[in-house]
Amino acid sequence: MCGIVGYIGEENSKDILLNGLEKLEYRGYDSAGIAVLNDAGMNVFKVKGRIAALRDQVDDEVQATMGIGHTRWATHGEPSVDNAHPHQSLSERFTLVHNGVIENYYEIRDEYLKNMDLKSETDTEIVVQLIEQLYEEVHDVQQAFRQALSLLKGSYAIALVDNENSDMIYVAKNKSPLLVGLGDGFNVVASDAMATLKETDRYVEIEDKEIVLVKRDQVQIQKLDGTTVERESYVAEIDAADTEKGTYPHFMLKEIDEQPLVIRKIIQEYQDSDDTIKLDEDIRKAMKKADRIYIIAAGTSYHAGLVGKQFIEKLANIPVEVHIASEFSYNMPLLSEKPLFIYISQSGETADSRSVLVQTKQLGHPALTVTNVPGSTLSREADYTLHLHAGPEIAVASTKAYTAQIAVLAILAVDTARAKGVELAFDPLQELGIVASAMESLTDQKESFEVIAKDMFETTRNAFFIGRGMDYFVVQEAALKLKEISYIQAEGFAGGELKHGTIALIEDGTPVIAISTQDNVNLSIRGNVQEVAARGANACVVSMKGLEKDDDSFVLPQVHELLTPLVSVIPMQLLAYYAALHRDCDVDKPRNLAKSVTVE
Ligand code: F6R
Repeated sequence: MCGIVGYIGEENSKDILLNGLEKLEYRGYDSAGIAVLNDAGMNVFKVKGRIAALRDQVDDEVQATMGIGHTRWATHGEPSVDNAHPHQSLSERFTLVHNGVIENYYEIRDEYLKNMDLKSETDTEIVVQLIEQLYEEVHDVQQAFRQALSLLKGSYAIALVDNENSDMIYVAKNKSPLLVGLGDGFNVVASDAMATLKETDRYVEIEDKEIVLVKRDQVQIQKLDGTTVERESYVAEIDAADTEKGTYPHFMLKEIDEQPLVIRKIIQEYQDSDDTIKLDEDIRKAMKKADRIYIIAAGTSYHAGLVGKQFIEKLANIPVEVHIASEFSYNMPLLSEKPLFIYISQSGETADSRSVLVQTKQLGHPALTVTNVPGSTLSREADYTLHLHAGPEIAVASTKAYTAQIAVLAILAVDTARAKGVELAFDPLQELGIVASAMESLTDQKESFEVIAKDMFETTRNAFFIGRGMDYFVVQEAALKLKEISYIQAEGFAGGELKHGTIALIEDGTPVIAISTQDNVNLSIRGNVQEVAARGANACVVSMKGLEKDDDSFVLPQVHELLTPLVSVIPMQLLAYYAALHRDCDVDKPRNLAKSVTVE
Protein backbone atom coordinates (compact mmCIF):
# COMPACT_ATOMS: atom_id res chain seq x y z
CA MET A 1 0.00 0.00 0.00
CA CYS A 2 1.09 3.65 0.04
CA GLY A 3 4.62 4.28 1.26
CA ILE A 4 6.45 7.32 2.63
CA VAL A 5 10.15 8.19 2.73
CA GLY A 6 11.70 11.42 3.94
CA TYR A 7 15.31 12.57 4.33
CA ILE A 8 16.99 15.60 5.87
CA GLY A 9 20.81 15.70 6.09
CA GLU A 10 23.89 16.53 4.03
CA GLU A 11 23.60 14.06 1.12
CA ASN A 12 21.66 14.55 -2.10
CA SER A 13 18.19 13.54 -0.95
CA LYS A 14 16.80 12.53 -4.36
CA ASP A 15 18.93 9.36 -4.52
CA ILE A 16 18.03 8.34 -0.97
CA LEU A 17 14.33 8.97 -1.64
CA LEU A 18 14.30 7.03 -4.92
CA ASN A 19 16.22 4.10 -3.39
CA GLY A 20 13.85 4.13 -0.42
CA LEU A 21 10.77 4.15 -2.65
CA GLU A 22 12.20 1.21 -4.58
CA LYS A 23 12.40 -0.71 -1.32
CA LEU A 24 8.70 0.02 -0.79
CA GLU A 25 7.67 -1.16 -4.26
CA TYR A 26 6.82 -4.58 -2.86
CA ARG A 27 3.93 -3.07 -0.92
CA GLY A 28 2.03 -2.36 -4.14
CA TYR A 29 1.46 1.07 -5.73
CA ASP A 30 0.27 2.68 -8.93
CA SER A 31 2.00 6.07 -8.94
CA ALA A 32 4.92 7.72 -7.21
CA GLY A 33 6.59 11.05 -6.61
CA ILE A 34 9.25 12.99 -4.75
CA ALA A 35 9.67 16.61 -3.73
CA VAL A 36 13.11 17.98 -2.84
CA LEU A 37 13.81 21.47 -1.51
CA ASN A 38 16.89 23.55 -2.33
CA ASP A 39 17.76 27.26 -2.64
CA ALA A 40 15.94 27.44 -5.96
CA GLY A 41 12.70 26.22 -4.30
CA MET A 42 10.68 23.04 -4.28
CA ASN A 43 11.24 20.53 -7.10
CA VAL A 44 8.34 18.09 -7.52
CA PHE A 45 8.48 15.02 -9.78
CA LYS A 46 5.52 12.65 -10.17
CA VAL A 47 4.59 9.75 -12.42
CA LYS A 48 1.80 7.28 -12.92
CA GLY A 49 3.51 3.87 -12.89
CA ARG A 50 6.78 2.53 -11.64
CA ILE A 51 9.72 4.07 -9.73
CA ALA A 52 11.90 3.33 -12.77
CA ALA A 53 9.79 5.88 -14.69
CA LEU A 54 10.11 8.35 -11.82
CA ARG A 55 13.90 7.90 -11.88
CA ASP A 56 13.88 8.77 -15.60
CA GLN A 57 11.85 11.88 -14.91
CA VAL A 58 13.88 13.25 -11.99
CA ASP A 59 16.35 15.88 -13.11
CA ASP A 60 19.88 14.39 -12.77
CA GLU A 61 21.26 17.81 -11.94
CA VAL A 62 18.99 18.53 -9.01
CA GLN A 63 20.84 18.83 -5.69
CA ALA A 64 18.87 19.13 -2.45
CA THR A 65 19.64 17.90 1.05
CA MET A 66 16.05 17.40 2.17
CA GLY A 67 12.90 15.98 0.65
CA ILE A 68 9.92 13.63 0.86
CA GLY A 69 8.74 10.81 -1.39
CA HIS A 70 5.67 8.64 -1.81
CA THR A 71 4.27 5.57 -3.52
CA ARG A 72 0.48 5.76 -3.94
CA TRP A 73 -2.08 2.97 -4.05
CA ALA A 74 -5.23 4.69 -5.23
CA THR A 75 -8.15 5.06 -2.81
CA HIS A 76 -9.66 8.49 -3.61
CA GLY A 77 -9.28 9.18 -7.32
CA GLU A 78 -7.80 7.10 -10.13
CA PRO A 79 -4.06 6.46 -10.51
CA SER A 80 -2.76 9.57 -12.33
CA VAL A 81 -0.04 12.19 -12.14
CA ASP A 82 -2.47 14.74 -10.68
CA ASN A 83 -3.52 12.37 -7.93
CA ALA A 84 0.03 11.18 -7.19
CA HIS A 85 1.77 12.62 -4.13
CA PRO A 86 3.44 14.93 -3.10
CA HIS A 87 0.58 17.44 -3.16
CA GLN A 88 1.11 21.17 -2.88
CA SER A 89 -0.95 23.98 -1.41
CA LEU A 90 -2.35 26.66 -3.72
CA SER A 91 0.60 29.03 -3.21
CA GLU A 92 2.93 26.00 -3.42
CA ARG A 93 4.45 26.98 -0.09
CA PHE A 94 3.53 23.65 1.55
CA THR A 95 4.21 20.19 0.12
CA LEU A 96 2.87 17.03 1.67
CA VAL A 97 2.71 13.23 1.38
CA HIS A 98 0.08 11.16 3.15
CA ASN A 99 -0.81 7.52 3.77
CA GLY A 100 -4.24 6.56 5.06
CA VAL A 101 -7.78 7.75 4.51
CA ILE A 102 -9.22 11.06 5.70
CA GLU A 103 -12.80 10.09 6.49
CA ASN A 104 -14.18 13.61 6.86
CA TYR A 105 -12.59 15.05 3.76
CA TYR A 106 -15.89 16.20 2.21
CA GLU A 107 -16.78 18.00 5.43
CA ILE A 108 -13.38 19.71 5.57
CA ARG A 109 -13.60 20.69 1.91
CA ASP A 110 -17.09 22.13 2.33
CA GLU A 111 -16.33 23.98 5.55
CA TYR A 112 -12.78 25.29 5.02
CA LEU A 113 -12.02 25.10 1.32
CA LYS A 114 -15.26 26.32 -0.28
CA ASN A 115 -14.87 27.42 -3.90
CA MET A 116 -11.22 26.39 -3.98
CA ASP A 117 -10.05 25.04 -7.31
CA LEU A 118 -8.55 21.73 -6.19
CA LYS A 119 -5.94 20.14 -8.41
CA SER A 120 -6.63 16.49 -7.62
CA GLU A 121 -9.42 14.14 -6.52
CA THR A 122 -7.54 13.03 -3.41
CA ASP A 123 -8.32 13.34 0.28
CA THR A 124 -4.64 14.22 0.74
CA GLU A 125 -4.82 17.51 -1.12
CA ILE A 126 -7.49 18.63 1.33
CA VAL A 127 -4.94 18.31 4.15
CA VAL A 128 -2.27 20.46 2.56
CA GLN A 129 -4.78 23.10 1.50
CA LEU A 130 -6.23 23.11 5.01
CA ILE A 131 -2.77 23.66 6.51
CA GLU A 132 -2.21 26.66 4.24
CA GLN A 133 -5.63 28.13 5.05
CA LEU A 134 -4.99 27.81 8.77
CA TYR A 135 -1.48 29.21 8.37
CA GLU A 136 -2.91 32.32 6.78
CA GLU A 137 -4.90 32.86 9.97
CA VAL A 138 -2.29 31.99 12.62
CA HIS A 139 1.02 32.74 10.81
CA ASP A 140 2.74 29.88 12.59
CA VAL A 141 3.43 26.64 10.72
CA GLN A 142 3.53 24.35 13.75
CA GLN A 143 0.28 25.77 15.05
CA ALA A 144 -1.40 25.47 11.66
CA PHE A 145 -0.18 21.88 11.33
CA ARG A 146 -1.46 21.02 14.80
CA GLN A 147 -4.83 22.66 14.19
CA ALA A 148 -5.23 20.87 10.88
CA LEU A 149 -4.45 17.51 12.47
CA SER A 150 -6.98 18.08 15.21
CA LEU A 151 -9.66 18.54 12.51
CA LEU A 152 -8.85 15.30 10.67
CA LYS A 153 -10.86 12.11 11.18
CA GLY A 154 -9.51 8.81 9.89
CA SER A 155 -6.04 7.45 9.42
CA TYR A 156 -2.94 9.30 8.40
CA ALA A 157 0.83 9.22 8.26
CA ILE A 158 2.00 12.60 7.04
CA ALA A 159 5.27 14.27 6.11
CA LEU A 160 5.09 18.00 5.37
CA VAL A 161 7.70 20.42 4.05
CA ASP A 162 7.48 24.22 4.21
CA ASN A 163 9.33 25.93 1.32
CA GLU A 164 10.46 28.61 3.71
CA ASN A 165 12.15 26.25 6.14
CA SER A 166 14.65 23.80 4.71
CA ASP A 167 15.68 22.71 8.21
CA MET A 168 12.58 20.77 9.16
CA ILE A 169 10.23 17.98 8.05
CA TYR A 170 6.94 18.03 9.96
CA VAL A 171 5.65 14.55 10.62
CA ALA A 172 2.48 13.13 12.20
CA LYS A 173 0.58 9.89 12.40
CA ASN A 174 -2.72 8.38 13.42
CA LYS A 175 -3.48 4.69 12.83
CA SER A 176 -1.13 4.48 9.79
CA PRO A 177 2.45 3.30 10.40
CA LEU A 178 5.31 5.82 10.40
CA LEU A 179 8.80 5.75 11.92
CA VAL A 180 11.63 8.22 12.31
CA GLY A 181 15.10 6.80 11.66
CA LEU A 182 18.08 8.35 13.42
CA GLY A 183 21.44 9.01 11.77
CA ASP A 184 24.63 10.95 12.36
CA GLY A 185 24.04 14.40 10.91
CA PHE A 186 20.85 13.29 9.22
CA ASN A 187 17.46 11.81 10.01
CA VAL A 188 14.94 9.90 7.95
CA VAL A 189 11.22 9.24 7.94
CA ALA A 190 9.66 6.03 6.66
CA SER A 191 6.36 4.20 6.70
CA ASP A 192 8.37 0.96 6.78
CA ALA A 193 11.92 0.58 8.15
CA MET A 194 12.74 -1.44 5.04
CA ALA A 195 12.86 1.84 3.03
CA THR A 196 15.72 3.35 4.99
CA LEU A 197 17.74 0.37 6.26
CA LYS A 198 20.63 1.43 4.05
CA GLU A 199 20.78 4.70 6.00
CA THR A 200 20.20 3.51 9.56
CA ASP A 201 19.00 0.67 11.77
CA ARG A 202 18.06 2.96 14.68
CA TYR A 203 14.41 4.02 14.83
CA VAL A 204 11.97 5.85 17.05
CA GLU A 205 8.33 4.86 17.06
CA ILE A 206 5.67 7.52 16.69
CA GLU A 207 2.41 6.99 18.50
CA ASP A 208 -1.01 7.98 17.24
CA LYS A 209 -1.79 11.69 17.41
CA GLU A 210 1.83 12.68 17.90
CA ILE A 211 3.78 15.24 15.87
CA VAL A 212 7.49 14.91 15.19
CA LEU A 213 9.71 17.83 14.18
CA VAL A 214 12.55 16.23 12.26
CA LYS A 215 15.72 18.30 11.76
CA ARG A 216 19.17 17.24 10.54
CA ASP A 217 20.55 16.84 14.05
CA GLN A 218 17.44 16.67 16.20
CA VAL A 219 14.14 14.86 16.47
CA GLN A 220 11.47 16.25 18.74
CA ILE A 221 8.27 14.36 19.49
CA GLN A 222 5.26 16.30 20.71
CA LYS A 223 1.69 15.56 21.59
CA LEU A 224 -1.01 17.44 19.71
CA ASP A 225 -1.23 19.89 22.63
CA GLY A 226 2.47 20.77 22.18
CA THR A 227 3.89 18.94 25.21
CA THR A 228 7.19 17.19 24.56
CA VAL A 229 7.45 13.39 24.64
CA GLU A 230 10.70 11.52 25.41
CA ARG A 231 11.11 8.13 23.75
CA GLU A 232 14.02 5.70 23.49
CA SER A 233 15.12 4.55 20.05
CA TYR A 234 15.42 0.86 19.15
CA VAL A 235 17.49 -1.12 16.68
CA ALA A 236 15.46 -2.70 13.84
CA GLU A 237 16.41 -6.35 13.59
CA ILE A 238 16.20 -6.60 9.83
CA ASP A 239 19.22 -7.67 7.84
CA ALA A 240 19.43 -5.39 4.79
CA ALA A 241 20.58 -8.44 2.76
CA ASP A 242 17.22 -10.14 3.46
CA THR A 243 15.53 -7.43 1.45
CA GLU A 244 17.49 -8.29 -1.72
CA LYS A 245 16.54 -10.91 -4.32
CA GLY A 246 20.10 -12.17 -4.72
CA THR A 247 20.28 -14.60 -7.64
CA TYR A 248 16.53 -15.33 -7.63
CA PRO A 249 14.36 -14.06 -10.48
CA HIS A 250 11.55 -13.22 -8.03
CA PHE A 251 11.14 -12.63 -4.31
CA MET A 252 8.27 -15.12 -4.31
CA LEU A 253 10.50 -17.98 -5.42
CA LYS A 254 13.17 -16.96 -2.90
CA GLU A 255 10.57 -16.88 -0.13
CA ILE A 256 9.13 -20.27 -1.12
CA ASP A 257 12.66 -21.69 -0.92
CA GLU A 258 13.29 -20.08 2.46
CA GLN A 259 10.49 -22.02 4.16
CA PRO A 260 12.59 -24.93 5.49
CA LEU A 261 15.01 -22.38 6.99
CA VAL A 262 12.16 -20.44 8.56
CA ILE A 263 10.72 -23.58 10.16
CA ARG A 264 14.16 -24.42 11.58
CA LYS A 265 14.51 -20.86 12.89
CA ILE A 266 11.11 -21.16 14.59
CA ILE A 267 12.18 -24.42 16.24
CA GLN A 268 15.33 -22.71 17.49
CA GLU A 269 13.48 -19.64 18.78
CA TYR A 270 10.75 -21.59 20.57
CA GLN A 271 12.93 -24.36 22.02
CA ASP A 272 14.22 -24.10 25.58
CA SER A 273 17.53 -25.63 26.65
CA ASP A 274 15.73 -28.69 28.06
CA ASP A 275 13.87 -29.24 24.74
CA THR A 276 10.61 -27.91 26.17
CA ILE A 277 8.71 -25.01 24.54
CA LYS A 278 9.99 -21.51 25.32
CA LEU A 279 7.03 -19.15 25.57
CA ASP A 280 6.15 -16.02 27.54
CA GLU A 281 4.51 -17.14 30.79
CA ASP A 282 1.83 -14.44 30.41
CA ILE A 283 0.77 -15.87 27.03
CA ARG A 284 0.59 -19.32 28.58
CA LYS A 285 -1.66 -17.99 31.36
CA ALA A 286 -3.88 -16.08 28.94
CA MET A 287 -4.36 -19.18 26.76
CA LYS A 288 -5.11 -21.36 29.77
CA LYS A 289 -7.65 -18.89 31.12
CA ALA A 290 -9.61 -18.52 27.87
CA ASP A 291 -12.95 -20.33 27.57
CA ARG A 292 -13.03 -19.59 23.81
CA ILE A 293 -10.52 -18.26 21.35
CA TYR A 294 -11.41 -15.91 18.52
CA ILE A 295 -8.90 -15.86 15.68
CA ILE A 296 -9.13 -12.69 13.59
CA ALA A 297 -7.28 -12.34 10.30
CA ALA A 298 -7.53 -11.58 6.58
CA GLY A 299 -6.60 -13.41 3.37
CA THR A 300 -3.77 -15.90 3.68
CA SER A 301 -3.46 -15.24 7.42
CA TYR A 302 -7.14 -16.19 7.76
CA HIS A 303 -6.37 -19.46 5.97
CA ALA A 304 -3.54 -20.09 8.46
CA GLY A 305 -6.06 -19.40 11.22
CA LEU A 306 -8.37 -22.14 9.90
CA VAL A 307 -5.52 -24.62 10.38
CA GLY A 308 -4.60 -23.12 13.76
CA LYS A 309 -8.16 -23.71 14.98
CA GLN A 310 -7.70 -27.45 14.42
CA PHE A 311 -4.51 -27.47 16.52
CA ILE A 312 -6.01 -25.55 19.43
CA GLU A 313 -9.27 -27.50 19.48
CA LYS A 314 -7.76 -30.95 18.94
CA LEU A 315 -4.73 -30.54 21.21
CA ALA A 316 -5.71 -28.00 23.86
CA ASN A 317 -9.47 -28.65 23.91
CA ILE A 318 -10.40 -24.96 23.72
CA PRO A 319 -13.20 -24.03 21.28
CA VAL A 320 -11.99 -21.68 18.55
CA GLU A 321 -13.83 -19.44 16.11
CA VAL A 322 -11.97 -18.08 13.08
CA HIS A 323 -13.28 -14.81 11.64
CA ILE A 324 -12.52 -12.66 8.64
CA ALA A 325 -11.51 -9.35 10.22
CA SER A 326 -13.52 -7.10 7.90
CA GLU A 327 -16.71 -9.07 8.65
CA PHE A 328 -16.18 -9.36 12.39
CA SER A 329 -15.57 -5.64 12.58
CA TYR A 330 -19.16 -4.81 11.59
CA ASN A 331 -20.95 -7.93 12.76
CA MET A 332 -19.55 -9.08 16.08
CA PRO A 333 -20.91 -12.46 17.20
CA LEU A 334 -22.02 -13.25 20.73
CA LEU A 335 -18.81 -13.56 22.75
CA SER A 336 -18.04 -16.08 25.49
CA GLU A 337 -17.36 -15.00 29.07
CA LYS A 338 -13.58 -15.26 28.94
CA PRO A 339 -12.54 -14.81 25.34
CA LEU A 340 -8.97 -14.45 24.10
CA PHE A 341 -8.45 -12.78 20.73
CA ILE A 342 -5.62 -13.95 18.51
CA TYR A 343 -4.76 -11.59 15.66
CA ILE A 344 -2.79 -13.28 12.88
CA SER A 345 -1.04 -10.84 10.58
CA GLN A 346 2.19 -11.07 8.62
CA SER A 347 2.56 -7.29 8.44
CA GLY A 348 0.94 -6.43 11.75
CA GLU A 349 -0.59 -3.43 9.98
CA THR A 350 -3.80 -4.75 8.39
CA ALA A 351 -6.41 -2.08 9.05
CA ASP A 352 -9.34 -4.54 9.09
CA SER A 353 -7.72 -6.55 11.88
CA ARG A 354 -6.72 -3.42 13.74
CA SER A 355 -10.26 -2.16 13.68
CA VAL A 356 -11.36 -5.35 15.49
CA LEU A 357 -8.47 -5.06 17.95
CA VAL A 358 -9.51 -1.53 18.87
CA GLN A 359 -13.09 -2.73 19.51
CA THR A 360 -12.14 -5.81 21.55
CA LYS A 361 -9.64 -3.80 23.63
CA GLN A 362 -12.42 -1.34 24.39
CA LEU A 363 -14.49 -4.29 25.61
CA GLY A 364 -11.54 -5.23 27.86
CA HIS A 365 -10.67 -8.55 26.19
CA PRO A 366 -7.06 -9.77 26.08
CA ALA A 367 -5.31 -9.89 22.70
CA LEU A 368 -2.38 -11.83 21.32
CA THR A 369 -0.85 -10.87 17.97
CA VAL A 370 0.98 -13.47 15.89
CA THR A 371 3.08 -11.45 13.46
CA ASN A 372 6.23 -11.24 11.42
CA VAL A 373 6.78 -7.64 12.51
CA PRO A 374 7.14 -7.10 16.25
CA GLY A 375 6.78 -3.38 16.82
CA SER A 376 4.02 -3.20 14.19
CA THR A 377 0.72 -1.58 15.13
CA LEU A 378 -1.08 -4.86 15.91
CA SER A 379 1.88 -6.01 17.98
CA ARG A 380 2.16 -2.79 19.96
CA GLU A 381 -1.53 -2.55 20.65
CA ALA A 382 -2.11 -6.16 21.70
CA ASP A 383 -1.23 -7.43 25.17
CA TYR A 384 1.11 -10.11 23.85
CA THR A 385 3.04 -10.89 20.67
CA LEU A 386 4.33 -14.12 19.14
CA HIS A 387 6.99 -13.51 16.50
CA LEU A 388 7.03 -15.53 13.28
CA HIS A 389 10.79 -15.12 12.67
CA ALA A 390 10.19 -15.51 8.92
CA GLY A 391 12.40 -12.57 7.87
CA PRO A 392 11.05 -9.83 5.59
CA GLU A 393 8.41 -11.08 3.16
CA ILE A 394 8.64 -8.89 0.08
CA ALA A 395 6.54 -10.67 -2.59
CA VAL A 396 2.93 -9.54 -2.34
CA ALA A 397 1.75 -13.16 -2.33
CA SER A 398 2.37 -14.51 1.14
CA THR A 399 4.19 -17.86 1.31
CA LYS A 400 6.71 -18.21 4.11
CA ALA A 401 4.60 -16.15 6.52
CA TYR A 402 1.68 -18.61 6.02
CA THR A 403 3.78 -21.65 6.93
CA ALA A 404 5.43 -19.74 9.80
CA GLN A 405 1.98 -18.82 11.16
CA ILE A 406 0.89 -22.46 11.09
CA ALA A 407 4.11 -23.63 12.76
CA VAL A 408 3.87 -21.04 15.55
CA LEU A 409 0.18 -21.86 16.13
CA ALA A 410 1.06 -25.57 16.44
CA ILE A 411 3.66 -24.74 19.09
CA LEU A 412 1.22 -22.48 20.91
CA ALA A 413 -1.49 -25.17 20.89
CA VAL A 414 0.83 -27.85 22.28
CA ASP A 415 2.19 -25.49 24.93
CA THR A 416 -1.36 -24.69 26.03
CA ALA A 417 -2.29 -28.37 26.11
CA ARG A 418 0.73 -29.11 28.29
CA ALA A 419 -0.05 -26.17 30.56
CA LYS A 420 -3.54 -27.62 31.01
CA GLY A 421 -2.07 -31.00 31.89
CA VAL A 422 -3.16 -32.75 28.68
CA GLU A 423 -0.86 -35.72 27.89
CA LEU A 424 0.24 -35.54 24.25
CA ALA A 425 2.29 -37.94 22.19
CA PHE A 426 2.86 -35.13 19.67
CA ASP A 427 6.16 -33.22 20.00
CA PRO A 428 5.78 -30.19 17.70
CA LEU A 429 9.44 -29.20 17.68
CA GLN A 430 10.54 -32.66 16.61
CA GLU A 431 7.73 -32.97 14.05
CA LEU A 432 8.53 -29.53 12.63
CA GLY A 433 12.11 -30.73 12.05
CA ILE A 434 10.68 -33.51 9.86
CA VAL A 435 8.48 -30.94 8.10
CA ALA A 436 11.51 -28.74 7.30
CA SER A 437 13.26 -31.66 5.58
CA ALA A 438 10.07 -32.57 3.69
CA MET A 439 9.71 -28.96 2.50
CA GLU A 440 13.30 -29.03 1.29
CA SER A 441 12.71 -32.15 -0.78
CA LEU A 442 9.74 -30.38 -2.43
CA THR A 443 11.53 -27.14 -3.20
CA ASP A 444 14.28 -29.31 -4.74
CA GLN A 445 11.75 -30.72 -7.24
CA LYS A 446 10.44 -27.47 -8.69
CA GLU A 447 10.58 -28.74 -12.29
CA SER A 448 7.76 -31.23 -11.59
CA PHE A 449 5.46 -28.39 -10.59
CA GLU A 450 6.52 -26.27 -13.52
CA VAL A 451 5.39 -29.12 -15.81
CA ILE A 452 2.03 -29.54 -14.03
CA ALA A 453 1.47 -25.76 -14.05
CA LYS A 454 2.10 -25.58 -17.79
CA ASP A 455 -0.25 -28.47 -18.48
CA MET A 456 -3.08 -27.24 -16.30
CA PHE A 457 -2.92 -23.46 -16.22
CA GLU A 458 -1.20 -22.09 -19.30
CA THR A 459 -4.39 -21.15 -21.12
CA THR A 460 -7.27 -21.87 -18.74
CA ARG A 461 -9.74 -19.22 -17.58
CA ASN A 462 -10.62 -21.00 -14.36
CA ALA A 463 -9.43 -23.73 -11.98
CA PHE A 464 -10.71 -25.60 -8.96
CA PHE A 465 -8.93 -27.04 -5.96
CA ILE A 466 -10.64 -29.63 -3.80
CA GLY A 467 -9.86 -31.20 -0.44
CA ARG A 468 -11.45 -32.45 2.75
CA GLY A 469 -10.58 -31.81 6.40
CA MET A 470 -7.13 -30.21 6.74
CA ASP A 471 -6.78 -30.31 2.94
CA TYR A 472 -9.90 -28.16 2.55
CA PHE A 473 -8.10 -25.32 4.36
CA VAL A 474 -5.07 -25.69 2.12
CA VAL A 475 -7.08 -25.70 -1.12
CA GLN A 476 -8.59 -22.35 -0.11
CA GLU A 477 -5.07 -20.96 0.19
CA ALA A 478 -4.04 -22.68 -3.08
CA ALA A 479 -6.88 -20.95 -4.93
CA LEU A 480 -6.05 -17.56 -3.43
CA LYS A 481 -2.38 -17.93 -4.44
CA LEU A 482 -3.30 -18.86 -7.99
CA LYS A 483 -5.85 -16.11 -8.51
CA GLU A 484 -3.85 -13.30 -6.99
CA ILE A 485 -0.73 -13.74 -9.11
CA SER A 486 -1.94 -15.45 -12.31
CA TYR A 487 -5.44 -13.83 -12.50
CA ILE A 488 -7.00 -17.24 -13.21
CA GLN A 489 -10.39 -17.44 -11.57
CA ALA A 490 -9.80 -20.14 -8.96
CA GLU A 491 -11.79 -21.53 -6.05
CA GLY A 492 -11.04 -23.99 -3.27
CA PHE A 493 -13.91 -26.30 -2.39
CA ALA A 494 -14.71 -28.96 0.15
CA GLY A 495 -14.70 -32.14 -1.96
CA GLY A 496 -18.11 -33.28 -0.73
CA GLU A 497 -19.72 -29.96 -1.54
CA LEU A 498 -19.13 -30.16 -5.31
CA LYS A 499 -22.26 -32.13 -6.08
CA HIS A 500 -24.32 -29.50 -4.25
CA GLY A 501 -23.82 -27.01 -7.06
CA THR A 502 -20.26 -26.37 -8.16
CA ILE A 503 -19.98 -29.48 -10.28
CA ALA A 504 -22.19 -27.69 -12.82
CA LEU A 505 -19.12 -25.62 -13.72
CA ILE A 506 -17.03 -28.60 -14.77
CA GLU A 507 -16.49 -28.74 -18.54
CA ASP A 508 -14.11 -30.55 -20.84
CA GLY A 509 -10.59 -29.67 -19.69
CA THR A 510 -11.49 -27.71 -16.52
CA PRO A 511 -8.43 -28.01 -14.26
CA VAL A 512 -9.25 -29.63 -10.88
CA ILE A 513 -6.46 -30.26 -8.38
CA ALA A 514 -7.18 -32.44 -5.38
CA ILE A 515 -5.07 -32.72 -2.25
CA SER A 516 -5.22 -35.92 -0.25
CA THR A 517 -3.15 -36.09 2.92
CA GLN A 518 -5.74 -37.34 5.42
CA ASP A 519 -6.32 -41.04 5.87
CA ASN A 520 -9.95 -40.70 6.98
CA VAL A 521 -11.01 -38.89 3.80
CA ASN A 522 -8.58 -40.34 1.25
CA LEU A 523 -11.20 -42.55 -0.37
CA SER A 524 -13.94 -39.92 -0.37
CA ILE A 525 -11.80 -37.22 -2.00
CA ARG A 526 -10.75 -39.73 -4.64
CA GLY A 527 -14.44 -40.40 -5.24
CA ASN A 528 -14.90 -36.67 -5.83
CA VAL A 529 -12.00 -36.69 -8.30
CA GLN A 530 -13.76 -39.51 -10.22
CA GLU A 531 -16.95 -37.44 -10.32
CA VAL A 532 -15.24 -34.45 -11.95
CA ALA A 533 -13.08 -36.59 -14.25
CA ALA A 534 -16.24 -38.32 -15.51
CA ARG A 535 -17.49 -34.87 -16.55
CA GLY A 536 -14.36 -34.04 -18.54
CA ALA A 537 -12.18 -32.29 -15.92
CA ASN A 538 -8.41 -32.25 -16.32
CA ALA A 539 -7.99 -33.66 -12.80
CA CYS A 540 -4.83 -34.32 -10.85
CA VAL A 541 -4.15 -35.56 -7.32
CA VAL A 542 -1.37 -34.51 -4.98
CA SER A 543 -1.31 -37.12 -2.23
CA MET A 544 0.75 -37.97 0.82
CA LYS A 545 3.05 -40.95 0.97
CA GLY A 546 1.15 -43.89 2.37
CA LEU A 547 -2.11 -42.76 0.76
CA GLU A 548 -0.92 -42.58 -2.84
CA LYS A 549 -2.38 -44.33 -5.91
CA ASP A 550 -0.54 -45.21 -9.09
CA ASP A 551 -1.70 -42.33 -11.26
CA ASP A 552 -1.31 -39.52 -8.69
CA SER A 553 0.51 -36.53 -10.16
CA PHE A 554 2.71 -36.00 -7.14
CA VAL A 555 3.38 -37.81 -3.86
CA LEU A 556 4.36 -35.68 -0.86
CA PRO A 557 6.84 -36.88 1.76
CA GLN A 558 5.06 -38.08 4.89
CA VAL A 559 4.77 -35.76 7.92
CA HIS A 560 2.54 -35.84 11.02
CA GLU A 561 -1.14 -35.79 10.01
CA LEU A 562 -1.76 -32.48 11.81
CA LEU A 563 1.11 -30.72 10.05
CA THR A 564 0.33 -31.75 6.46
CA PRO A 565 -0.72 -28.20 5.42
CA LEU A 566 2.89 -27.10 5.88
CA VAL A 567 3.95 -29.56 3.21
CA SER A 568 0.96 -29.76 0.87
CA VAL A 569 0.93 -25.98 0.41
CA ILE A 570 4.43 -25.93 -1.13
CA PRO A 571 3.36 -27.51 -4.47
CA MET A 572 0.36 -25.15 -4.50
CA GLN A 573 2.63 -22.11 -4.07
CA LEU A 574 4.93 -23.39 -6.82
CA LEU A 575 2.01 -24.14 -9.15
CA ALA A 576 0.76 -20.59 -8.71
CA TYR A 577 4.26 -19.21 -9.26
CA TYR A 578 4.82 -21.10 -12.50
CA ALA A 579 1.29 -20.42 -13.75
CA ALA A 580 1.93 -16.68 -13.31
CA LEU A 581 5.31 -16.99 -14.97
CA HIS A 582 3.89 -18.85 -18.00
CA ARG A 583 1.19 -16.22 -18.36
CA ASP A 584 3.72 -13.36 -18.21
CA CYS A 585 2.29 -11.88 -15.04
CA ASP A 586 4.22 -9.65 -12.65
CA VAL A 587 4.75 -12.35 -10.00
CA ASP A 588 5.99 -10.18 -7.13
CA LYS A 589 3.73 -7.21 -7.75
CA PRO A 590 0.34 -8.46 -8.96
CA ARG A 591 -2.12 -5.90 -10.27
CA ASN A 592 -4.41 -4.06 -7.84
CA LEU A 593 -2.81 -5.66 -4.78
CA ALA A 594 -0.82 -4.23 -1.92
CA LYS A 595 1.41 -6.05 0.54
CA SER A 596 0.25 -4.31 3.64
CA VAL A 597 -3.42 -3.32 3.53
CA THR A 598 -3.55 -0.28 5.77
CA VAL A 599 -7.00 0.95 4.72
CA GLU A 600 -10.28 -0.70 5.73
C1 F6R B 1 -2.21 -13.13 0.04
C2 F6R B 1 -1.90 -12.16 1.07
C3 F6R B 1 -3.02 -11.47 1.74
C4 F6R B 1 -2.67 -11.21 3.22
C5 F6R B 1 -3.76 -10.33 3.85
C6 F6R B 1 -3.49 -10.10 5.32
O1 F6R B 1 -1.06 -13.74 -0.47
O2 F6R B 1 -0.75 -11.90 1.35
O3 F6R B 1 -4.21 -12.17 1.62
O4 F6R B 1 -2.58 -12.43 3.88
O5 F6R B 1 -3.80 -9.10 3.20
O6 F6R B 1 -2.26 -9.50 5.53
P1 F6R B 1 -1.51 -9.61 6.91
O7 F6R B 1 -1.15 -11.03 7.14
O8 F6R B 1 -0.31 -8.72 6.76
O9 F6R B 1 -2.47 -9.12 7.95
